[in-house]
Amino acid sequence: MSSLQNRVAIVTGGALGIGGATSRRLAAEGAKVLIADYVMEAAKENAARIVGSGGEARAMHVDVSKAEDLEVMVKEAVDVFGGLHILVNNAWGAKESDGTAETITESAWEYGMNAMVRAHFRAMKHAVPHMRKAGGGAVVNIASVHGQLMAERRLVYETAKSAVIGMTRQMACDFGKDGIRVNVICPGHIVTERGEANWAQRPDLHKLFVEQYPVRRTGIPDDIANTIRFLVSDEATFITGQAIAVDGGLTIQLQENMGIAQAIYGRDHPEIDYGHWE
Ligand SMILES: NC(=O)c1ccc[n+]([C@@H]2O[C@H](COP(=O)([O-])OP(=O)(O)OC[C@H]3O[C@@H](n4cnc5c(N)ncnc54)[C@H](O)[C@@H]3O)[C@@H](O)[C@H]2O)c1
Repeated sequence: MSSLQNRVAIVTGGALGIGGATSRRLAAEGAKVLIADYVMEAAKENAARIVGSGGEARAMHVDVSKAEDLEVMVKEAVDVFGGLHILVNNAWGAKESDGTAETITESAWEYGMNAMVRAHFRAMKHAVPHMRKAGGGAVVNIASVHGQLMAERRLVYETAKSAVIGMTRQMACDFGKDGIRVNVICPGHIVTERGEANWAQRPDLHKLFVEQYPVRRTGIPDDIANTIRFLVSDEATFITGQAIAVDGGLTIQLQENMGIAQAIYGRDHPEIDYGHWE
């Protein structure tokens, strides 16, 4: 029997990128997957791809920045599939969010916090009673290496991702006794469909990214989907509240040394166009 047979999963942002791969991976293990995304065409395509390979999935329009959408999302999973066991809070949203405390607008802050922080708490609020009823559940939140280490001019994203790590630990404490485990993944750079198109224009800059990873590659969505598959399975029932970096070793390095290695690489590759990093 597949490891997630008879489990019901919601994947927010499940149409594309990490969420897209996760929906397919969980469905391949037998889970019934609700793909909750605000890009319906891609969500339907992913659901059709899953159904086409013998899995069960349904696409639903959900904007995670809206409280009411998250309530309806959980209800839909329970009504259609008969319960809820797995929740992957993956969707992200940031509108004009680059900037500092001095430059960020109130609306960019508000949207970012709604889509990346409140969404997780709201989805959880509605999911917990159903998971408890099912005898337990597994939640995976997606933060980032940007929740562990800060980059300049990224106030909204870095704050949101840091909050997701704290919220995960808190929720793991609160709901462990109900059999509900909550973990968070901090991905390094993952080349999604969107990323592929960008890097195709900038292979020199992508190589510079690759150089920063001990494993000498950036990630792919399946790197994260595989980790999620493990975390929500019965193989991981003693793991909760953990922030797991899936980052090819990016964050284990001493930054001074890495900075120097990068400076040398840059000196030897004067053709690199640093674009908006400058
Ligand atoms: N790709 C990376 O390098 C990387 C690195 C670290 C963390 N992450 C995190 O991984 C998660 C997924 O990122 P990704 O790179 O796969 O993104 P992506 O842009 O490739 O895909 C995001 C998906 O979420 C959906 N989405 C966006 N906003 C939404 C909203 N408000 N409501 C519903 N759906 C929405 C999109 O339609 C899309 O299907 C995010 O939480 C992101 O912060 C990504």
